[in-house]
Amino acid sequence: MTTGIKDKKLPVGIDGKAMNLSVVGSGYIGLVTGIGLAMSGHQVTCIDCDSTVVTKINHAIYPFYEPSLDGLLEKCVNKNCNLKAVEEYSEIANCDASFICVGTFSKSENNTDFSNIADAAAQIGHALRDTNAYHLVVVKSTVPPGTTEEVIIPILEKQSSKKAGRDFGVAVNPEFIQEGNASRSSLNPDRVIIGEHDQKAGDILQSLYESSYSGPIIRTSIRTAEMIKYASNAFLATKITFINEIGNLCKKLGIDVYDVAQGMGYDPRIGQRFLNAGIGFGGSCLPKDLEELICRAQQTGYDSRLLSAVLNINAAQPLILTQIAEERLGGLKDKVVTVLGLAFKAGTDDMRDAPSLKVIAQLMSQGALVKTYDPKAMPRAKTIVGDGVEFCASAQEAIDGTDCVLIVTDWEQFKDEELYRGKLVIDGRRALDPDTANHVCAHYEGVCW
Ligand code: UGA
Repeated sequence: MTTGIKDKKLPVGIDGKAMNLSVVGSGYIGLVTGIGLAMSGHQVTCIDCDSTVVTKINHAIYPFYEPSLDGLLEKCVNKNCNLKAVEEYSEIANCDASFICVGTFSKSENNTDFSNIADAAAQIGHALRDTNAYHLVVVKSTVPPGTTEEVIIPILEKQSSKKAGRDFGVAVNPEFIQEGNASRSSLNPDRVIIGEHDQKAGDILQSLYESSYSGPIIRTSIRTAEMIKYASNAFLATKITFINEIGNLCKKLGIDVYDVAQGMGYDPRIGQRFLNAGIGFGGSCLPKDLEELICRAQQTGYDSRLLSAVLNINAAQPLILTQIAEERLGGLKDKVVTVLGLAFKAGTDDMRDAPSLKVIAQLMSQGALVKTYDPKAMPRAKTIVGDGVEFCASAQEAIDGTDCVLIVTDWEQFKDEELYRGKLVIDGRRALDPDTANHVCAHYEGVCW
């Protein structure tokens, strides 16, 4: 592994010029990646099979909610004119490099579904068949260690009738983008990891970053890069689960876990971040990546007990919220319960693996009447939870007439204590300050404080 190689300044692109780049998959990661590359001055073609997404991008409309990127898509599409979207893969033949950013596979019964990524690799390989120019293929999708060498490269070679490392280059370049904070985590990441199949591939990718990035660039093998991504997310998930476990214990002992976390976090070996105890982690990445890593471990014959425990503890954490509500209300049947917040975290409209879904399902199974409000995620949530839930026009409307409020996502607007005057409130995110909330609410307590 090489770090601190940035003193060896490489030219932008292969010959020092801006490059023609394609980004395959225009989901969250693909579009944010495309914008980042276009902002660095490259010509970017986003490829997606969904014609609605393609049309939106070409009209500079985000297909998802990401306020931190406000104005950037508009700038790339309309002002700089260096980002466009298409449905066809044929454009790849005119590009110097392609970034695979398709959504990673869902898992069933310990089998990983490689179809998305395999399809993208096959299409890229096919497009390269008739070109003579060297082309760099960059895997940004999160894939289990070994996948690029065992699945992606063989498909690329078969479909293109060319040889990796000679006719085209391959690199793995995991992303560490945080939803709701894409501009910082994508345009100015804490580190760039380049897993290279061959040195030329790594050099080109490094030069792409160096035009606009001054942080650490770490060059490593393909497998190591794949593992760095999984290990990073597994560590974050473990850190959150650790503080939730401590929180569950602290509550029983009458100790505030947030004071404990602050005291721990001053130790630089521990750090303050990702120690916010609550109802656990959700989203499209942490739960799925953890499952895939456990599955990969099993395939090697290794039983990953720590990561399995993290997953199990996290699955149970949101249900503590409904348990407390049940105890305080003396049962949930026919009680009106407000679920405040639906997105898996504030700052996004993403509902994938959102803890709110577990909370709502549990409340409904126990006969509660559920009212809810989320400033951004309600359109997506409606397609998932259906008609059994009352979707309200504001937080105030959702709280009016309720027996109990469960705070599930810590949107800024939910931090106004006046909303909760005289109510029974159970906070899953430490949205409120317990000292003041205790005076305003009829009863206030946290999931693990
Ligand atoms: C996560 C990683 O943080 C990114 O580095 C990575 O690039 C991304 O997955 C990915 O693999 O694509 P993201 O899923 O956007 O990013 O969200 P996080 O900010 O990590 O939050 C994940 C979950 O943990 C949320 O439900 C959040 O509410 C929860 N969380 C986070 C806590 O409960 N406590 C904390 O202290 C921090």
